[in-house]
Amino acid sequence: IDFALANKPLLGKKILVSAGPTQESIDPVRYITNHSSGKMGYAIAKAAFCLGADVTLVSGPTHLKVPYGITCIDVISAKDMYESIIESASHQDYIIMSAAVGDYAVQEIADEKIKKNDETLTLDLQKNKDILYELGQRKQANQVLCGFAMETSDLILHAKEKLEKKNCDMIVANHLKTAGAGFQGDTNVVTMITQDDMLDYGLMSKEELAYVILETLMDLEGQRC
Ligand code: CTP
Ligand code: CA
Repeated sequence: IDFALANKPLLGKKILVSAGPTQESIDPVRYITNHSSGKMGYAIAKAAFCLGADVTLVSGPTHLKVPYGITCIDVISAKDMYESIIESASHQDYIIMSAAVGDYAVQEIADEKIKKNDETLTLDLQKNKDILYELGQRKQANQVLCGFAMETSDLILHAKEKLEKKNCDMIVANHLKTAGAGFQGDTNVVTMITQDDMLDYGLMSKEELAYVILETLMDLEGQRC
């Protein structure tokens, strides 16, 4: 066997991974964001590169170093992320949306710093476009599309709904309320949901989980041929 090839099952494949949070400006000094660290997405990007893939990482603001060999497109807002992902989506074999995309953006960003004059402050928010949904709408026959789901209740039910609604091949459902799972840590606890299967995983490092996710997606692609 060609040893190099045997260890590079994703050689020749193009993979787009999104990671991290997004930031929605309120005024020149403030923004709305979430607790995503980007670790899961960065781990997937690194694992995909190690398996031979041509990896593009679209990343919201994180404190992480871009792994060796990976092209990283830095974005700030959900709108920026939408634009750069949609632009490169059609060339990709696998798209993995691990970013925690902000659901709402401030309707009118103030030009000047908002002063604390009143006792209460109301911000009008507008729903952002759902990138994964749009990718599902445009999905090509040979493309593999993977999303994540963050839930604090009815995890499986909500994740299955997202799988259908967003036309994904797999949803990695995060047990946000379980110890060792979620946004900031180095470990995760997930259930992977595909059209035909539900795979439960116990506590795992994000590095290890990255390989499991990619292997599961490769299996799904293999079953199509
Ligand atoms: N997602 C996206 N674009 C958005 C919001 C979410 O692409 N504007 C993607 C996320 O990257 C993730 C998946 O959709 O892969 C599910 O995100 P999640 O926040 O769990 O679900 P939502 O569909 O946003 O619904 P809700 O937050 O109300 O549960
Ligand atoms: Ca959301």
